[in-house]
Amino acid sequence: MTSRRPTIGVFDSGFGGLTVLKALLEVIPDADYLYFGDTARLPYGSKSVQTVARYAVEAAHFLEGHKAELLVIACNTATALALGQITSAAHVPVVGVVEPGAEAAASISKTRKVVVIGTEATVCSHAYQKALEARGLQSHEKACPLLVPLVEEGWVDHSVTEHVARIYLNEAFADGFRDADTLVLGCTHYPLLKPLLRRVAPARVSIVDSADSTARAVAARLSNLLQPVAGEERRERARLRFFVTDSVEKFQRLGQAFLGRPLENVQHVDLKE
Ligand code: DGL
Repeated sequence: MTSRRPTIGVFDSGFGGLTVLKALLEVIPDADYLYFGDTARLPYGSKSVQTVARYAVEAAHFLEGHKAELLVIACNTATALALGQITSAAHVPVVGVVEPGAEAAASISKTRKVVVIGTEATVCSHAYQKALEARGLQSHEKACPLLVPLVEEGWVDHSVTEHVARIYLNEAFADGFRDADTLVLGCTHYPLLKPLLRRVAPARVSIVDSADSTARAVAARLSNLLQPVAGEERRERARLRFFVTDSVEKFQRLGQAFLGRPLENVQHVDLKE
């Protein structure tokens, strides 16, 4: 147990996890954050379990090596495919995005039917389906592979993206899931599409953002780990450091839209060094 400002390690395949960091900064503004974006090896969403697990464990060791006291696996794909392996390999608590997202869906769904959208790998793992089933909910998982590149292109409010999203959601809210009342955003990039998805999804549907639910889960976890601290130290602004495996310049340029502020203290790392 520690009474200092916590150092939280956030891991993602690249830029998308900045949506989770943004949510964390709102809920826990008085922490030190280390963000690791594996930009040289993204996307994870089309890779195998073995590959994603190997990359994610390397990143977890890197963050622990930089004194992270708690790890947030912001990447839905890495959480869905490798949370168990990351947790076994790590020496600090690990929080993924799937359980908090499922918990939030369970707390709001009345029809107990939920649609989950995510990458191909996340959907194939059925991690969300299992987490929702454990809470008594039925789910229809739908892979939406075109949405990640469209968001990275900056087309978050573009007619092409709206058309693509409409096709995916029409297919998802079909058959036995016409009465689903909750849409879980099971990918780091989708929070940027929230206004567009709100327009496209059936009006009765509530949208669950795994980033927000995860930030609240991390805050709850920290309250068990940390002793309350009185005084100025906890009220200081968050300190952020970023580590990326590809171009620093590209991360700063693309990342700003995800985090909603300029990115400073960005360092290139090569995990093989
Ligand atoms: N971060 C990934 C996720 O949340 C999306 C991008 C990728 O495929 O690497 O699933």
